[in-house]
Amino acid sequence: MHVFTRKYWGGGLALAAALAGGIHWAAAQQQIITPSARELNKSFDADASQWAGRFEHEGRAIYDKRYEILDYMHLKPGMDAADIGAGTGLFARLMAQRVAPGGTIYAVDIAKAMVDYTAKMAEEQHITNIKAVLGDPRSPRLAPNSVDFVSIIDSYHHFEYPKDMLLEISKDLRPNGVLMLVDFKRIDGVSKPFILNMVRAGEGTFTDEFRNAGFELIEERDDMFPDNYLLRFRHRGAKVE
Ligand SMILES: C[S@@+](CC[C@H](N)C(=O)[O-])C[C@H]1O[C@@H](n2cnc3c(N)ncnc32)[C@H](O)[C@@H]1O
Repeated sequence: MHVFTRKYWGGGLALAAALAGGIHWAAAQQQIITPSARELNKSFDADASQWAGRFEHEGRAIYDKRYEILDYMHLKPGMDAADIGAGTGLFARLMAQRVAPGGTIYAVDIAKAMVDYTAKMAEEQHITNIKAVLGDPRSPRLAPNSVDFVSIIDSYHHFEYPKDMLLEISKDLRPNGVLMLVDFKRIDGVSKPFILNMVRAGEGTFTDEFRNAGFELIEERDDMFPDNYLLRFRHRGAKVE
């Protein structure tokens, strides 16, 4: 069993409830839902311009450090990349400049309001190399072998089915493709209450989840932000440069 399945369930009660609800054992193993993630995800499918106000402002550490995060992507003209959990398209728009000419950015989200907003902003700003993609909680719905790079920024802890998502992403990445994760440091008794309430696990558990999905950690930065860390992974099936 993967490390994260054990941590997710938080005891036999949830599993018993799932089984009583008629879910087969194997399916229950996959059914690694964080209740708060599902609830939070519902709230994203609403007025996206309001979310833009919350995501795209000075004082949000990820926004303040957006160009530093962008530099860590090592994007080059002609590369194809996906930002999964793209939200209002903040990073997709920046990434699009770096891969032009010739490269495409897939801005994937499961909230239709976010996808529509990203497409509208790209059109208004005449950014022609962003494709806004409506994903599924279990899959980004990208073509296999279609991207050189994937970013997941402040979104992985929102994934309701992280194991399924990582399996699909590993198929979508081209050989030698890189995945970047930016998420919250979650340390019991130390982290801020909103992080402890919203984020289901810390860096160690998330790293285990990526390793279990076949990814190898190639870079770790936990000194860039007070409350976040940045990890870069390569899929173990990939050829190392
Ligand atoms: C906190 S927002 C972060 C947005 C953006 N990455 C940023 O940092 O500004 C999280 C986003 O992840 C999306 N999301 C949640 N689960 C997802 C999944 N399985 N696939 C794609 N997007 C997902 C939500 O709809 C939401 O827009």
